[in-house]
Amino acid sequence: MALRSMLFVPGDSERKLAKAPAAGADALILDLEDAVDAARLPAARVIVREYLAARPASGPELWVRINPLDSGLALDDLAAVVRSAPDAILLPKGQGAQAIVTLDHYLTALEAREGLEPGAIGIMPVATETAGAMFNLGGYADCSPRLRGLTWGAEDLAAVLGAASNRREDGEYDFTYQLARSLCLLGATAAGVPAIDTIWGNFRDTEGLRKDAARARRAGFTGKIAIHPDQVAAINEAFTPDPADVERARRIVQAFEQAPGAGTLQLDGEMLDRPHLKQAMRILASVPAAG
Ligand code: COA
Ligand code: MG
Repeated sequence: MALRSMLFVPGDSERKLAKAPAAGADALILDLEDAVDAARLPAARVIVREYLAARPASGPELWVRINPLDSGLALDDLAAVVRSAPDAILLPKGQGAQAIVTLDHYLTALEAREGLEPGAIGIMPVATETAGAMFNLGGYADCSPRLRGLTWGAEDLAAVLGAASNRREDGEYDFTYQLARSLCLLGATAAGVPAIDTIWGNFRDTEGLRKDAARARRAGFTGKIAIHPDQVAAINEAFTPDPADVERARRIVQAFEQAPGAGTLQLDGEMLDRPHLKQAMRILASVPAAG
């Protein structure tokens, strides 16, 4: 299913976990990394595992953000949660395709141990959180059939760079973080997977969020991460195509179907060729499933 909104929920907060499904997000990301204090991690692993195991038959996808592969914590995170079959793993500080291959192997072994369908659990890296990762964004094609998308982050990258801020004086992202956003989009497209935009940290600023999400949508991102339930509705709206656009996309696809072999044709007096068809099919693919 197309993921418009993905809501982060601290993995050690039973209160927030209980509230999260009602937010209306397409996926919840149960966090074992930065939102959880190190001392609370063992408890969080148990809470997340039990939360996954108790999931209702319908509801949002349930993802888990584990700790980075080089943290010494990732294998214990995986060993705790894979048995409860999360839909996917969000990998922070992903260094590139090699890290996806490594995680794929870990998941394959754990799925076998738990008797789960091999390859069922997806992977998405936060692909811009280290300096080295920025140089590997073009390399994700064919790294693993588990790859569900790429997303990016500006906070950890600023921290490793020793930047005082990731924003310019006028409030826009500084060039390095705009580059991270663009390369994430290009890298995801090159790999044939969705690009998911990063968080909007100021969760009381809904107007700012709306603008940020609309900009991401125009650029080609297909979803965005939320950190607060109040952000979900605006994100879903931004990434749901207008009914008029969907209707027009349907007519474009139909026009090409009715003219087999035609490379170019016209609709309502406008020239259409292959890029229009591609874009129309993308719009139809982004229509959320009913229900
Ligand atoms: N998921 C589920 N419920 C959440 C939530 C979330 N991400 N964020 C807030 N809520 C709940 C709160 O528990 C609160 O409910 P309550 O009054 O019944 O306790 C309600 O929504 C309103 O929250 P609010 O008072 O506005 O915010 P807060 O001060 O409780 O929490 C944050 C603010 C930022 C700490 C919280 O939104 C959060 O934990 N976000 C996720 C952080 C995260 O995972 N970061 C890692 C990736 S960057
Ligand atoms: Mg982080």
